[in-house]
Amino acid sequence: MSILRLDKYLADSGIGSRSDVKKLLRKGSIRVNGEIVTAPEYKINSETDEILYQDTLISRKDLVYYLLNKPAGYISATQDPDKPTVLSLIHDTTHHDLFPVGRLDKDTEGLLLITNDGALSHALLSPKRHIDKTYYVETDSEIAGDAVSIFQKGMDIGDDTPTLPAELTIVSPTSAYITIQEGRYHQVKRMFHVIGCEVTYLKRIRMGSLTLPDDLPTGQYRSLTEEELSMLKK
Ligand code: URA
Repeated sequence: MSILRLDKYLADSGIGSRSDVKKLLRKGSIRVNGEIVTAPEYKINSETDEILYQDTLISRKDLVYYLLNKPAGYISATQDPDKPTVLSLIHDTTHHDLFPVGRLDKDTEGLLLITNDGALSHALLSPKRHIDKTYYVETDSEIAGDAVSIFQKGMDIGDDTPTLPAELTIVSPTSAYITIQEGRYHQVKRMFHVIGCEVTYLKRIRMGSLTLPDDLPTGQYRSLTEEELSMLKK
């Protein structure tokens, strides 16, 4: 879509935050097709309008979104002195500002979003948003039936506050799906530890509206579809 608000276009181009951009607009530093525009909500066509900041042409940042099926053994970071990072799996030589949205443990597999869109990452990771994340879990011992209600009530895993309600669906004596609303450090492993089970395998299969595609092999990635992206931004 090429019609969008001027302040969003300018913020996406990297010249500053949304509030920096509002100040620049107020000062009269931005011209659209030769005219000074001061209204942040002014609508531009990013394909045809010429947007200048102090006589420099402003182009929108090229945002990319990759859905990776993370293999075990990779660190969810942009760099690491010893271990391979998830970014080493992304063969994109054009964008040098990619990062993973949140973290999966080194031994966790599954859905990980890799992008250079800081605003979207911030929104998805915001603790206020309670974005659901679903994991497939295997354990070393039997998951008791009452775990469903223990997880549902919220539980003490040694943090300042109990966990928010989580949904557990037991698949077999030692496997289950769990949906959590937070992203605390080692959260799933710690929740199972409290009920007497150690997690032996963990794979994220969903984050918000994004689902890990069945046909995406471990270690492979693909760009988000337009539909996936617009659902995620909602
Ligand atoms: N919970 C964990 O314990 N580990 C992960 O990687 C993700 C959620």
